Amino acid sequence: ATDRPLGVAEYLSLIDPANRANPYPLLAELRALGPLRLGTAPVVLFTNYDDCLSVLRHPDARVDRGLTEFPLSQFPDPRSDARGEKPSFLFLDPPDHTRLRRLVAQAFTPRTVRQLAPRITELVDRTLDRAAAAGQFDAVADLAYPLPVTVICELLGVPVADGDRLSEWSALMSRRLDPAARSTAAFAADPTELARASDEMYSYFEDLAARRRTDPGPDLLSQLIAAEESGDKLTHDELIGTCGLLLIAGHETTVNLIGNAILALLRDPRHLAALRADPDLAPAIVEETLRYDPPVQLAPRIAAADMRIAGMDIRRGDLLIMLFAAAQRDPQLYPDPDRFDPGRDARHLAFGLGAHFCLGAPLARLEAAIALSRFAARVERPRLLVDPPPYRDHVNLRGPAALPIAFDAI
Ligand code: HEM
Repeated sequence: ATDRPLGVAEYLSLIDPANRANPYPLLAELRALGPLRLGTAPVVLFTNYDDCLSVLRHPDARVDRGLTEFPLSQFPDPRSDARGEKPSFLFLDPPDHTRLRRLVAQAFTPRTVRQLAPRITELVDRTLDRAAAAGQFDAVADLAYPLPVTVICELLGVPVADGDRLSEWSALMSRRLDPAARSTAAFAADPTELARASDEMYSYFEDLAARRRTDPGPDLLSQLIAAEESGDKLTHDELIGTCGLLLIAGHETTVNLIGNAILALLRDPRHLAALRADPDLAPAIVEETLRYDPPVQLAPRIAAADMRIAGMDIRRGDLLIMLFAAAQRDPQLYPDPDRFDPGRDARHLAFGLGAHFCLGAPLARLEAAIALSRFAARVERPRLLVDPPPYRDHVNLRGPAALPIAFDAI
């Protein structure tokens, strides 16, 4: 029994780590309630597909966190002398968003990204060789986690030996991107620790940028420095902020796509056998994973004006949370939505839509497709050792923390 308004209880249960292994029944309950305001809070949830589309397309649904009083950011932390956040274009509206995104977009087009396929295949095969030699394999620790960080480090021009430190910072900092957690302050990361991670990460990129300035390479950071030096296209702070964004966005999401997909395949080995027989099925399996178990479960917007969306009265400053994970199992759109079915038309919102559509989508798709097809081709009779697996402690970034696997041979 609760005296909380309808919807708040379900939402709080969603945030409860006890429900991490399978949040989908709760998401279905939230979806059945339709769009809803969380009690008296300046927070509105959108849970079905068409309502999420209406938010994504609304010109007054913005990303600038300065538009809300809601504590979306913990920076600067009053208890530390942290220098605060650097500009990240994920949180900028036009015209700054357009200018910064354009500078890096070139590096992420499907054509540019396709050239990385041989290198990604080599990295995956090397991982599988190591697992074969070790006789044990954790699909998260050994494959899903190191692959995206190595690829984004190589793209940016970060020495791969520094990957571990960057992983630690990015894991900590991605927690502050969790608006679901922020809305209850239930399990936000320790602000002092967060501030330390962000300071260290930004200092790291400052040092690296100083080195690349005198000794440029063929990497994205050197290209951004050239843009900085050629005029006022981006400021020094924007340069450093963009590196941080690419590291975190490129790292903390793709790991979950690979982990969630391997989990789905192991739970229904018919799909695994089909993929083993036909590696060209990998893209369909990736798309269905993005629908069925999205690595990014939700995205926030902030209302820049009073308005009405999906029949809801929205006030300026309200936080609008689009629960993609609920929308993508909307039975209006997907027959038998709780079934993992790579054969279906899996249109989805897992990469967002519109101006902020995921810049790294082609890269994430390619990394995942190669990881899955090589896994299926090489690992003989893989079996999950723990089901359900432990999950990462996020509401938004959803994926297994570990996937230990038994196998006959690799
Ligand atoms: C934006 C998901 C991988 C870079 C986004 C957004 C989503 C998303 C939902 C939009 C957020 C919003 O509208 O508020 C994912 C998923 C991934 C993934 C599910 C993997 C499976 C990557 C990778 C990179 C990347 C590999 C880069 C290397 C970005 C950037 C943005 C973004 C820079 C901000 C775009 C903008 O604001 O214009 N991503 N992402 N992402 N993503 Fe990804």
